Amino acid sequence: MKYYILFGPPGAGKGTQANAMVEKHNLCHLSTGELLRSEIAAGTPLGLQAKALIEAGSLVPDEVVEGMIEARFKGTEGVDGFLLDGFPRTIAQAEALDAMLEKDGEAVTAVVSIMIPDRMIHERIAHRATIEGRADDARPEVVENRIRTYHEKTEPLVDFYKGSGRYHEIDGIGTIDEVRERIFTLMDRF
Ligand code: AP5
Ligand code: MG
Repeated sequence: MKYYILFGPPGAGKGTQANAMVEKHNLCHLSTGELLRSEIAAGTPLGLQAKALIEAGSLVPDEVVEGMIEARFKGTEGVDGFLLDGFPRTIAQAEALDAMLEKDGEAVTAVVSIMIPDRMIHERIAHRATIEGRADDARPEVVENRIRTYHEKTEPLVDFYKGSGRYHEIDGIGTIDEVRERIFTLMDRF
């Protein structure tokens, strides 16, 4: 099985690029953000726990997302691998993922990192706010907190994965088609 991590700051284009990637490589797309938003929409206890944190632009507890991912690893069949979008997001989550995979003799195949500068994050999220109506896109201070949280808690994963030679960076500036072509060219190597 292949285990790809789709990495990058808020608004980098992870969700946008994920669809073509999973189709081409027969992967299961696991976006922790989307899974959490479904829990909120369904009013589950987990959703209730996550709602305020997401709407403030803060991370939900590591154990919550780790449990969601592990359950999907176990319950998914008929794919050649997984595309993890928005997970892991802390060093603790990355270590938990390694431990989960090691138990089955598996490992992270590659980290595909889409990089854009902070000013572009604001532009893209402001644009998406007019289309999708995500609660965490609406207020500038929440977007700021998401960017700050990314730099403080998630960006350290770059060095974590660089250390094991699994980190691959893609320039996220350009059209959606251009970025997709860069990702496809990279993934053909794995
Ligand atoms: P999550 O849903 O993962 O949000 P995020 O990481 O902030 O990323 P986004 O979904 O905002 O951006 P994206 O990269 O998918 O961009 P998109 O393709 O939509 O997480 C939400 C929250 O859930 C977190 O804040 C946290 O609270 C919680 N959470 C989730 N995972 C967690 C975890 N592991 N641990 C703890 N908490 C967790 O693109 C953005 C816009 O730009 C779109 O409108 C798109 O059309 C446009 N666009 C994309 N590419 C281009 C391009 N090349 N040119 C022009 N426009 C483009
Ligand atoms: Mg997304």
